[in-house]
Amino acid sequence: MSRVAVVTGGSRGIGAAISQALKADGFSVAATYAGNDEAAAKFTEETGIKTYKWNVGDYEESKAGLAQVEADLGPIDVVVANAGITRDAPFHKMTPEQWQQVIDTNLTGVFNTVHPVWPGMRERGFGRVIVISSINGQKGQFAQVNYAATKAGDLGIIKSLAQEGAAKGITANAVCPGYIATDMVMAVPEKVRESIISQIPAGRLGQPEEIARCVAFLASDDAGFVNGSTISANGAQFFV
Ligand code: CAA
Repeated sequence: MSRVAVVTGGSRGIGAAISQALKADGFSVAATYAGNDEAAAKFTEETGIKTYKWNVGDYEESKAGLAQVEADLGPIDVVVANAGITRDAPFHKMTPEQWQQVIDTNLTGVFNTVHPVWPGMRERGFGRVIVISSINGQKGQFAQVNYAATKAGDLGIIKSLAQEGAAKGITANAVCPGYIATDMVMAVPEKVRESIISQIPAGRLGQPEEIARCVAFLASDDAGFVNGSTISANGAQFFV
């Protein structure tokens, strides 16, 4: 039987590329989405990948959604916590709501996605937790105090989970994408985006598939000794 993978935010952008890469590698994939029914339906139609709608920021919704995936596809072997949002603003203009929305989705959302499936992974002696962090969690970013805090927090999560899961056959790793050609980056004002691209030695934005291939490796049985690690894929923009 094929392994089962869940990708949050898996019907658009980087998440959609991850869902498709895992499907191509033989996983049964469930892709979650928060609100865009039309994009999700189109994604399922084009790829045959089943989509599920829930808010990753809500623990009970996440738990129920993950239970539904397990009822449909079987025990979850791989979770890819990819769902993320931005609410960019210089700190002096950032509102408590902008702070909280990003914390709820990007950071608490990781807890809510992994915590319900963790006991099953421990019992079965196998699991792959992959969190999509960001270059901006590594280096910080103007107007992203909220986002950078969550993406740095992701790295603390995987390093701790790696230590807890290692003896049970579970790995926890992160991928830190640089600037990738997705709606999120395209929403940055054009002038700012051009200035960002000029700081990328590769001279271009990354492609979602270039992140998906990193995730596919971490999800594979071959990656069992890679645990607590971070793969940076940023066109040489930043080195840790
Ligand atoms: N570094 C230094 N200064 C900067 C700056 C930067 N990166 N970006 C903007 N500024 C400056 C502006 O030049 C401007 O200066 P002046 O006041 O002297 O003119 C000031 O900061 C911005 O002031 P505004 O009051 O005009 O700012 P605003 O309230 O309109 O906000 C913004 C604008 C939200 C910051 C907008 O510029 C923006 O979206 N910037 C991009 C932030 C960014 O890089 N986000 C990453 C999104 S992609 C992502 O997150 C994916 C990933 O993981 C990589």
